[in-house]
Amino acid sequence: MFVIIAIVQIYIKNTVGAVALTRFKPCVTIYIGILPVKIYPRKCNILSDEEVATLMKISKVGVVGCGQMGGGIAQVCAQAGYTVVVSEISDEFLNKGLAAIESSLDRSVQKERITQEDRDATLARIRGTTDTRDFGECDLVIEAAVENLDLKKKIFGEMDKVCPERTILATNTSCLPITDMAAATGRPDRVLGMHFFNPVPVMKLLEIIRTTATSEATLDTARDFGESLGKTYVIVQDSPGFIVNRLVTPQIMNAIRMVESGIATAKDIDTAMALGLNYPMGPLALADLIGLDTVLFIVNGIYDKLRDEQYAAPALLKDMVAAGQLGRKTGKGFYEYNQ
Ligand SMILES: NC(=O)c1ccc[n+]([C@@H]2O[C@H](COP(=O)([O-])OP(=O)(O)OC[C@H]3O[C@@H](n4cnc5c(N)ncnc54)[C@H](O)[C@@H]3O)[C@@H](O)[C@H]2O)c1
Repeated sequence: MFVIIAIVQIYIKNTVGAVALTRFKPCVTIYIGILPVKIYPRKCNILSDEEVATLMKISKVGVVGCGQMGGGIAQVCAQAGYTVVVSEISDEFLNKGLAAIESSLDRSVQKERITQEDRDATLARIRGTTDTRDFGECDLVIEAAVENLDLKKKIFGEMDKVCPERTILATNTSCLPITDMAAATGRPDRVLGMHFFNPVPVMKLLEIIRTTATSEATLDTARDFGESLGKTYVIVQDSPGFIVNRLVTPQIMNAIRMVESGIATAKDIDTAMALGLNYPMGPLALADLIGLDTVLFIVNGIYDKLRDEQYAAPALLKDMVAAGQLGRKTGKGFYEYNQ
């Protein structure tokens, strides 16, 4: 005859490996004779063995887009020791993006931030491609193509087909709904936002954006991955503009409106904000750094969702984008730059 004793206890799930995964979860232990049987409440987010395995397995990272952000993300991943495959729409864009990574690493060697050997090893870990099928062995894919929801949904649909079931799909979107991108896949629990800042090798922040469907295991993997890149992360729920862009873009829009109405010059507005508030750069220099096309995409994306006039793009911003004055990347925006 079996004696059944039920006791509620804390179960510590401890796994070994590169990633620390200590979890405290409630469970009920029933003793059948001397044999303990653990029963977990259905919704307590215990990591399955499969999920734990995923957490320990990020070694190959895919990056979609090798522009300002994609190139930077590919670089920091490779510098942290990950094998990286980065894609572009054409050989021309790919070569331009890879050359930018090389120049960035060369500058780091000149400034003695890294050695020549580090530079060579980093470049050797990055492979460029124009064929999406090359993402077939990635454990994590970070999408950093242009800020357009239809394009991003299409990319997520493609990645869902090409990547194995374990692969986590992340987006570097600045403001667009990640829930919509997740809906374009059959794995919404493995989709989240990983929003890096520009320039990626320099900026310490990583916004990790979770949707209501993102699993705890996916979130934990993103946290550990971000830390492995030397970033400090914050967690934010999927919402227009997340934290930083939700707060900074009204300031940029107001600065543009001030230029538009002749209240002050771009230089004086930026000087005032830099010296008056101790900002590293003023809002218009920041807009030039981000890219005015991207700034316009961001405010349009937030405005579409919130209908809040703070995010309405001024005519001057639209005109500059239409004229190809996109900031640093085209050599002219609110300021002029040597290409
Ligand atoms: N610029 C910033 O400061 C900044 C900061 C954080 C996040 N972001 C976000 O990062 C993303 C990229 O921005 P960016 O500034 O690097 O733009 P970018 O224009 O410099 O680069 C985007 C690149 O994506 C490529 N691309 C487009 N479709 C593609 C596809 N199907 N497959 C592969 N590559 C494709 C383009 O050819 C281009 O080179 C956007 O979502 C943007 O909102 C930008």
